Amino acid sequence: MTLEAIILAAGKGTRMNSNKPKVLHSIGGIPMLEHVVDAAMLLEATKVHVVVGYGAGQIKAAFSAEKHKDEIFWATQEEQLGTGHAVRQALPNLEYNGADDLIIVLYGDVPLTKSTTLRELVRLAGNNKLSVLSLVAENPTGLGRILRNQAGNIEAIVEEKDATEAQRQIKEINSGIMVAPKSKLINWLGKIGNSNQQGEYYLTDIVALAAIDGTEITGLAINDGMEVLGVNDKEQLAALERHYQMIKTTELLQSGVTLRDPNRVDVRGSLSCGKDVEIDVNTIFEGEVVLGDKVVIGANSTIKDTSIGTGTKILTGTSIDGATIGSNASVGPMARIRPGTVLKDETKIGNFVETKNAIIGAGSKASHLAYIGDAELGESVNIGAGVIVCNYDGVNKHRTIIGNNVFVGSNSVLVAPVTLSDNAFIAAGSSINGDVPADNLAVGRAKQRNIPGWKRPIKK
Ligand code: UD1
Ligand code: CA
Repeated sequence: MTLEAIILAAGKGTRMNSNKPKVLHSIGGIPMLEHVVDAAMLLEATKVHVVVGYGAGQIKAAFSAEKHKDEIFWATQEEQLGTGHAVRQALPNLEYNGADDLIIVLYGDVPLTKSTTLRELVRLAGNNKLSVLSLVAENPTGLGRILRNQAGNIEAIVEEKDATEAQRQIKEINSGIMVAPKSKLINWLGKIGNSNQQGEYYLTDIVALAAIDGTEITGLAINDGMEVLGVNDKEQLAALERHYQMIKTTELLQSGVTLRDPNRVDVRGSLSCGKDVEIDVNTIFEGEVVLGDKVVIGANSTIKDTSIGTGTKILTGTSIDGATIGSNASVGPMARIRPGTVLKDETKIGNFVETKNAIIGAGSKASHLAYIGDAELGESVNIGAGVIVCNYDGVNKHRTIIGNNVFVGSNSVLVAPVTLSDNAFIAAGSSINGDVPADNLAVGRAKQRNIPGWKRPIKK
């Protein structure tokens, strides 16, 4: 048996009120369509077909750099003539591997179906059956209703707009997700028409055709509406975002992470944590973040694509992007750590310190108000308050090299390229534009003059 997935993503998503195609809107920092492609990959679908129409160019471009770019087979639906018509557009790209081939139809705007649910749906389709994922909904308004006969077997799906008053009372609704035998699906899709209220070719019409030709139809009814909630507007997008974050924070709590308030942590990517990690409120994790044992993340911090070693503390209001941080370091409060920063073990980066493309050696400190860019610092360096590394001459960037145990006095300016060798000592307020040899004191400032009897200017 081989399985191929067809993901429908041609609709415009008018109610999103956005110029961006609906399926590119994100949940947990990942475009909805990518969630669905991921789900299909988890099912080990041999091919994943995505049917695009509105914004096709934008959607393909968004995936051209993404991890799935080589795994998606695109099909185009020029006009949105219905879900059945959409599935038909992918048929020419299907493979034939055997009589027991299956197709799963997924929706690009239904991003959070559990892979266990999908796997069960595929299992139920088994050999030559049609399986339909349904939900018993409190409020079925707007959705297709599942019609069952007296024996309880599924006979058809009727869209709300085509339903009778009695059918509208049915609470079991169609999620839209189904698994069908490939050859039968192709046959049924050839037979569906568009004489209905919306003048569309409904995928759901294949259910009645299956019933007529005696194909067994199995329904998998789930209870968690969030699993099959489709996103049509920003309100639903926000609801699913919260739901997704709740799933993520529950996983973190179960793995032993302390979250001061699980409602105030957002994970937009992957976050992996060691033992006894503590995360305070209003923290955002983006991309791939790895936290070692006993790491503490202070309130209001944003951490992106970064790994942090054992016992390191990130204090309130710190922003970190693209950094590698060793163990037992202290960063913040209110520090800005930019891409290419490497903070070795036991470093200290204090308030209002910005680093970029800089290696800060073990035990080195920049405790207040400094900018360190395109620099390499040795061990046990002390960067005083207000030190600026002038890495940019207005045209080019230059590097600054600082040896071990160097002391840079407060409010000094290091004009790159410049090298300060081991044990160099820079007097406060210096402007340093030449190298300083090891063990030297450098005083790079005008000598102080005192003028006695100085009269202050008077107002004219
Ligand atoms: C569909 C189902 C309905 C189900 C509901 C669940 C049909 C006829 N109806 O209705 O039974 O309860 O989903 O959310 O299938 N799409 C295309 N091309 C088209 C039309 C749609 O690619 O021509 C895509 C959309 O982008 C979307 C998905 O198919 O991802 C569903 O389309 P939508 O118009 O939202 O279907 P519903 O009317 O909600
Ligand atoms: Ca819909």
